[in-house]
Amino acid sequence: MDLSTRYLGLDLKNPLVVSASPLSLDLGNVRKLEDMGTAAIVLPSIFQEDIENEIDEIERLVAEGSSEAFSYFPARMTENVGPKNYLDLIRKARQAVDIPIIASLNGSSLSGWTGYAVQMEQAGASAIELNVYFLPTDLMLSGAEVEARYVDILKAVKAAVKIPVAMKLSPYFSSVGHMVKTLDAAGADGFVLFNRFYQPDIDLEELTLLRDIKLSNKGEIRLPLLWIAALSGNIRGSIAASSGVQTAAEIIKYLFVGADVVMTTSALLRHGIGYMQTLHDGLVADLKTREVQTISEIRGRMSRGAVTDVAAFDRVNYIRILRTGAVTS
Ligand SMILES: Cc1cc2nc3c(=O)[nH]c(=O)nc-3n(C[C@H](O)[C@H](O)[C@H](O)COP(=O)(O)O)c2cc1C
Repeated sequence: MDLSTRYLGLDLKNPLVVSASPLSLDLGNVRKLEDMGTAAIVLPSIFQEDIENEIDEIERLVAEGSSEAFSYFPARMTENVGPKNYLDLIRKARQAVDIPIIASLNGSSLSGWTGYAVQMEQAGASAIELNVYFLPTDLMLSGAEVEARYVDILKAVKAAVKIPVAMKLSPYFSSVGHMVKTLDAAGADGFVLFNRFYQPDIDLEELTLLRDIKLSNKGEIRLPLLWIAALSGNIRGSIAASSGVQTAAEIIKYLFVGADVVMTTSALLRHGIGYMQTLHDGLVADLKTREVQTISEIRGRMSRGAVTDVAAFDRVNYIRILRTGAVTS
């Protein structure tokens, strides 16, 4: 059976990619993940704030309580990984394994930090995943201005490096498909759909904001599934599905709607990195049952352009469901 696929112009042995998380801070994990069948690994993000050395200032403001808004700031997931250490991580991961290592650059406004992409390239990253983690809480900011920010950041990074650049996006645009098409035209080599925004909750006892990260569940594949099905075959760049993979079934579904690769983090955090082997074996077993020899035989077979029952993706189905009450718990 041939599981090979292409993502961002890279030839991968299969569609299983580990998404950005602290798991790959440990080189032992990186090696084991390769042994378990992982085809590529995305390193945890280095943040614009790390690069610009602003984190300390933000933490000082939070400590002083002078800006409540800063308490929404995602926890420092890459603690101890400053810009210099991050380049060491890329170099060491590169040396430790044969599979592609994708560096993750995370920022929210256009400034000098995008130039750091050059150092990622020089350190041996096979590609860059650009995560524009931007919450437009400024109520005067229009949708068009928000979208322009993504395009400007992408163009700055693309201009700096020769390696491919993927955009990791959230689904929170008024027209997600158009946003993807715009970034596709602006030179993005691929899309990671979707990023999860870490929304704070409230501790009612302490009356403080909770800043924990919830692992995903399999129900979370539905939104990316819908959009990957709509985008597959309609963009130049490649597509990575991200969110909700818990078993091989979610991987197969993502491939059916047109994903080139499928990423996972929560399942590995929940079950341990050895679970990558279970996902790999489950994928092979499922494809065997279907008598499928290559991934391309199923990829996109249930995309929006390929299915006959296209109404299932649309408003008409929504109306039908609401009228008949066809709910599952
Ligand atoms: C503990 C943790 C750390 C993460 N760190 C990053 C990160 O540094 N950069 C990033 O782009 N995404 C990060 N993510 C998001 C994941 O890469 C992934 O997109 C998200 O968890 C959805 O995929 P999943 O359902 O397979 O977990 C993190 C997620 C978790 C749970």
